[in-house]
Amino acid sequence: MNAPLMALRGVSRSFGNNLALDNVTIEAYPGEVHCLLGDNGAGKSTLIKTMSGVFNPTGGHIEFGGNRVSFRSPRDAQDLGIGTVHQDVGTIPLISVSRNFFLGKEPTKGWGPFMRIDQEKANRVALEQIRAMGIRRVNDAEQLVGTMSGGERQALAIARAIYFGAKLLILDEPTAALGVKESKVVIDLIKNARAKGIALVFITHNATHALQVGDRFTVLIQGRVASQFLRGEKSREEVLNLMAGGEDFDADEHGD
Ligand SMILES: Nc1ncnc2c1ncn2[C@@H]1O[C@H](COP(=O)(O)OP(=O)(O)O)[C@@H](O)[C@H]1O
Ligand SMILES: [Mg+2]
Repeated sequence: MNAPLMALRGVSRSFGNNLALDNVTIEAYPGEVHCLLGDNGAGKSTLIKTMSGVFNPTGGHIEFGGNRVSFRSPRDAQDLGIGTVHQDVGTIPLISVSRNFFLGKEPTKGWGPFMRIDQEKANRVALEQIRAMGIRRVNDAEQLVGTMSGGERQALAIARAIYFGAKLLILDEPTAALGVKESKVVIDLIKNARAKGIALVFITHNATHALQVGDRFTVLIQGRVASQFLRGEKSREEVLNLMAGGEDFDADEHGD
């Protein structure tokens, strides 16, 4: 049986006396997309920041690869293969595509006092990787990120995470600012990452996008899991109703 790559078990997180996450259990499986749905303030960003080492839980625990883990920093999570694409990704418009791709992890050449960035290699790799994501309009790694569209920036960030070995890819509202055509590009990237066996957590407000690609779904309301279900278990209307804070009529049947 397929085992979860990562799980939060009964995780809570409070800020002062504001309980942003209340006893949340959520699992991410290799080769599956887990959609995280919920209104503004529901706790979605707090949840993914807990998964990516930005916040520590104030209750419950985290498992990765079946082992209990705790993160001292986002770096610890990255080292395990947790790649996070935040909503404001790549919005530093005045740096180059290549610089944005590597963000300080550029390949180097030489050693000791002669070590320096191998710019030629950095440019070549960055361009190869984003072209492999289907972004063909970008043909110069030295061009500024500001010349890319929102969808292309998402693609760049996803390409970067995969290049640096993400086993779990967390995407915070990657389609929120995009038009229909660009959203489709991002949805296709999510499908490609899933086909590579990567576990994905996909945060969105958009039920259509979620239903297009989700294998598992969690609806958060005020920091609590209001509903959890698998692809095909609920209709589009039921999902919309849950997202709007309506009741989960099936919840009792699942016995959890
Ligand atoms: N760093 C923080 N300090 C204090 N309160 C926070 C912090 N981050 C989030 N919160 C609070 O936690 C709750 C959930 O926020 P958030 O996770 O950003 O929700 P969402 O991403 O679903 O919109 C909100 O009440 C928010 O004000
Ligand atoms: Mg948020």
